[in-house]
Amino acid sequence: MGKSVLVTGGAGYIGSHTAVELINSGYEVIIVDNLSNSDRGSIEGISKITGVEPKFIEADCCDKEAMRRVFEENEFDSVIHFAAYKAVGESVAEPAKYYRNNLLSFITILELMVEYGRRNVLFSSSATVYGDAEQLPVTELTPRKPATSPYGNTKQMAEDILRDMVAANDNIAGIALRYFNPIGAHPSALIGELPRGVPNNLVPYITQTAAGIRECLSIFGDDYDTPDGSCLRDYIDVVDLARAHVVAVDRLSNGRNKDRYEVFNVGTGRPVSVFELVRGFEEANSLKLNYRVAPRRAGDVKAVWADTTLANEELGWRAERDLSDTLRAAWEWEKHVRQ
Ligand code: NAD
Ligand code: WQD
Repeated sequence: MGKSVLVTGGAGYIGSHTAVELINSGYEVIIVDNLSNSDRGSIEGISKITGVEPKFIEADCCDKEAMRRVFEENEFDSVIHFAAYKAVGESVAEPAKYYRNNLLSFITILELMVEYGRRNVLFSSSATVYGDAEQLPVTELTPRKPATSPYGNTKQMAEDILRDMVAANDNIAGIALRYFNPIGAHPSALIGELPRGVPNNLVPYITQTAAGIRECLSIFGDDYDTPDGSCLRDYIDVVDLARAHVVAVDRLSNGRNKDRYEVFNVGTGRPVSVFELVRGFEEANSLKLNYRVAPRRAGDVKAVWADTTLANEELGWRAERDLSDTLRAAWEWEKHVRQ
């Protein structure tokens, strides 16, 4: 016990990369996923990269009896809870689906942790909780803004649920990691992001355009009050992000957390515009991308990027991967998927 981690949603994009980093750091990994937005290929990828096959249980985290069996039959004292739906637009159209899946899955896990005396939990939160922030970069103390989508609201509500569960249970400790914009793929090209249908996010749209699956990338707005008129974001390499989970689990496992509930921004601390990202992709991969400027997308904020001082100092973590390496890995993954 102690070196095992339950990873919910571990067949997904960030979960699979985190499983690799955990295994490479000596943790035993148990993955639970219902494959609603992933497939078993990522489990194979994890095995190929690490040489270790993680235990995989196909189950729904909202199914309390199935999850009870997972807790009964497996020894771990840390849980990383990735399992959730994440499409912002879909959450506006189908809010109940999002509230049910994202909140019920987490509450189920937390209740079982209390019942079975499992101590540590990491939660996947998002920079979306900051909304259109008044001061940039945002620190963990920057006030959250009222959510503009049910998806964003599930992240705020889940953070509050975690805070309250920790306050009420002396033997639970939790960390919420607020991810900025995760991009890229494992350098082996054996795992990566698998968007279903038309991608909403910028980098999968770029790679699919480069692959000829989409005709043309639309850049949503060049008239923002930013240096080149396009939006600014903090794009974090998924492997760097995965490593942040390992150090956060280490911190909880070693009891080094100062408070039993903590929040950390996980970003690079560097704002990058849409035009810069597109140019960076073209240069990193020596190709030309078909793109045009389109009207602003409803709901987009002009700019958001992280102050990462807290994660740097407290977790001893910082983003290391170079943006061009990240954009090369994204393209390698896209080509691998199309093979
Ligand atoms: P993903 O869809 O690739 O991974 C989520 C995984 O959870 C999928 O494999 C899916 O099958 C699984 N899942 C969903 N509901 C489940 C349930 N009820 N029971 C079991 N498995 C379930 O998404 P991701 O990009 O890896 O995101 C992981 C987490 O990080 C999510 O909580 C997401 O909201 C959060 N997050 C993602 C981003 C991003 O841009 N990718 C940014 C901030 C936060
Ligand atoms: C990035 C930039 C777009 C697509 C979303 C969620 C957020 C978090 C991360 C989960 C923006 C521009 C995009 C395109 C474009 N997810 N863009 N053309 O919106 O910052 O964040 O993913 O928690 O909650 O909202 O990411 O990748 O969609 O957009 O010009 O085809 O790229 O306008 O400026 P976003 P994104």
